[in-house]
Parts: sequence; structure tokens; C-alpha cells
Amino acid sequence: MRMNQESSVQQILARYDDKAPLSQAYTIPAPWYVDPRIAELERQTVFSKTWQVVGRTDQIEKPGQFVTATVAGEPIVAVRGNDGVLRAFYNVCRHHAAAVVTEPCGQASILHCPYHGWNYGLDGSLKGMPEFEGVKNFEREDNGLVPVMVDTWESFVFVNLDLEASPLSQFLGALVTRAAPLGLAKLHYFTSKVYDIHCNWKVFVDNYLDGGYHVPHLHKGLNSVLDYKQYTIEVEDRYCLQSSPLVFPDEDAAVASTRKGNRAWYFWLYPNFMFNFYEGYLDTNLVIPIDVDHCRVIFDFCFGDVSEARREFNERSVATGSGVQDEDLGICEAVQRGLKSRAYGAGRLSVRREAGEQLFHQLLAADLKGGLVRNVVAAD
Ligand code: FES
Ligand SMILES: [Fe+2]
Repeated sequence: MRMNQESSVQQILARYDDKAPLSQAYTIPAPWYVDPRIAELERQTVFSKTWQVVGRTDQIEKPGQFVTATVAGEPIVAVRGNDGVLRAFYNVCRHHAAAVVTEPCGQASILHCPYHGWNYGLDGSLKGMPEFEGVKNFEREDNGLVPVMVDTWESFVFVNLDLEASPLSQFLGALVTRAAPLGLAKLHYFTSKVYDIHCNWKVFVDNYLDGGYHVPHLHKGLNSVLDYKQYTIEVEDRYCLQSSPLVFPDEDAAVASTRKGNRAWYFWLYPNFMFNFYEGYLDTNLVIPIDVDHCRVIFDFCFGDVSEARREFNERSVATGSGVQDEDLGICEAVQRGLKSRAYGAGRLSVRREAGEQLFHQLLAADLKGGLVRNVVAAD
């Protein structure tokens, strides 16, 4: 750790070789997971520049429906206007910075700040300020909520804080056609679960992207329905698809009865969004950095059939997922402790299994190194 404090951010970034072929590659070095300066650089160059999921399209279908979220530490609100247009803003009042919208989601005819009662339209424009007569050099038109970019894909709502960012469709790349046959938008929201984990957000993503490497060892129940040898790993653009044929022996009835279809599809989209699909089943995992040592993972569970008759089955399916998650959480926290050990610097990658992890590290390195150059240039 003492070494880390003495190294500059440039030196820490330079320790990762993103050009190495998989057979020669190392993981990103341990300080990337434990140094607060790297976490801050990620906030600026990754989470403030990439498309980030903030909600589901079924939450913002009607005029006035909104969702709130935190992206790169910034409070954000996405809201459908009376004109049918979806917009997103910093959820920060232009008066004295209170959060204007305080609910996670809902419907409103006007965005009303709870602090001093300023009102904004659904299009973000400032409509009214109580007791503001006599204030000079104040233009209402210049004091609307500050916009960010917003777009949707399948059943997901994305925002981007970077007004210069390329469109969502370009960011998604070939993922759009790869995921199209699954018909994700046909599934209906059932419930959510939130996990607060004592590990850097990248530890959770790495664990997801190890190509099933940990499945036979850590998830014995899940392993019984996955054809582990046939597990495939595709890496392209900014996504990784890990997929496995499903088999149904009798060993673990609880898992087998809630996991149907021919294949399991596990998608990851850079940097922090995953979705897992089986026939009639979808769960999404949004990994939100809290600080260098903590992350929050929001799981949304969706099913083809969310009728009352199906409730018990769906609840069982969610419970099966939770068991797997608990196994992952314990190991992620152990990894975070290990990354701080003087005994560890960086690790090697399995050529058979860990191509997705390498893609993640390469994309991250490109954003951090590019962002650092831009910051240095901007500071000069
Ligand atoms: S902070 Fe919103 S009205 Fe004062
Ligand atoms: Fe796992």
C-alpha cells in the first residue's frame, strides 16, 4: 500500500499492458481496485462518459412518469413530457441545489422542489418561483433543469452525462442485433433486490466475466444445469456474451425447476451492466460504485408471465438467483481484501475462460489512460 501512495496515477495506469495477447496478459493491477485516485478518475472518464442504465421503459411510458438515479455520483431524473418526449436532467434545483424529485419513480404533472417550492415543467423549464419579485438579472429561461442525454434500448433507459457522447446505438454496437432474438422487451418486471458489497465495483464485474471459471467450484447448484464444457465466450465492441446450453439432470431440483430453455445467455455491457436470460426469465444487474471499496448491485427480475397464478413459481426463481448471489458476494469481499495484500500485484488469465475479463480491462484502460491525457492537456 505504501508503494501505491508513492506512485503517481500515471505510473499506476502504466503498469497495465492492454496490448498483450490473452495468453500473455495480466489483469489490471491491484492498485486500480484500491486507490481512491483511480476511483475518481473512473468517475470522470468512465461513468461520466458512458451510457448508463437508470431505469426501465415501463416506468416512463406515460407523460409525467419519471425515474431517478445516481450516475457518476450525480443525481439524475428522466421524465416523459406531455409531448411524449423522454428527457433527462440533473436532479438539482437551480435555486439552492436540493433534489427536485425525491421519489425513485412515479408520475407528476410538474416537478416541484420540496425546499422552497420552485416548479419546473416536465420539459425541465423553470415555471415559477415563490417570493422572487424584485430579483434583478435573473432570467427564468436560463434557470431550467440542466439536461443530460437520454435514450432507450429494448426495455432499458440509458443516460449519458457527456453531451458530446456518440449515440447509444453506436455505443451498443453489435449487441443490438445479438440480443434482438431474445425479445427482452416482452418480459415483465416482477421484483428487485439490492446488494451492498464491500468490494470495488470491478471485482463484481470481474467475477461475472470469468467465463464460468468459478461456476463448478463456487456454484454447485447452478453448475448442475449448465453444460460447463460447452460454455462459450464471445467478445465484441463493448459487450461480452457468455452462453451455455442448459441440461436437466435430477441433482438439483430447485435450480432445474426454475431454469428453462435451451441456453443460458449472460450478457455484459461495458462498463457495469449485465443481463441474464433464460426462456421466460431475465435478470439485470447494475453495478454502481459507491467508493473505491464498496459497490451496490441492483438486480431487477423480469418474467414472461407475472400473473398471480405464476407468483409462487417466480418467487422460487428469484430465490434460486439469490442463493447464487450470496455465494458470489462472499468471494468478492474476500478478493477485495486480497487485492490489498502486499502479496498480490496482478494475476494471469485463463485463455479458455477469461477473454471477457480482458476485454473489460482493455476498455477500462483505454478510457482511463485517454481521460488522464485529456485532463492533463486541459490542465496545461
Ligand atoms: S432549492 Fe429548490 S426551491 Fe430552493
Ligand atoms: Fe458467480
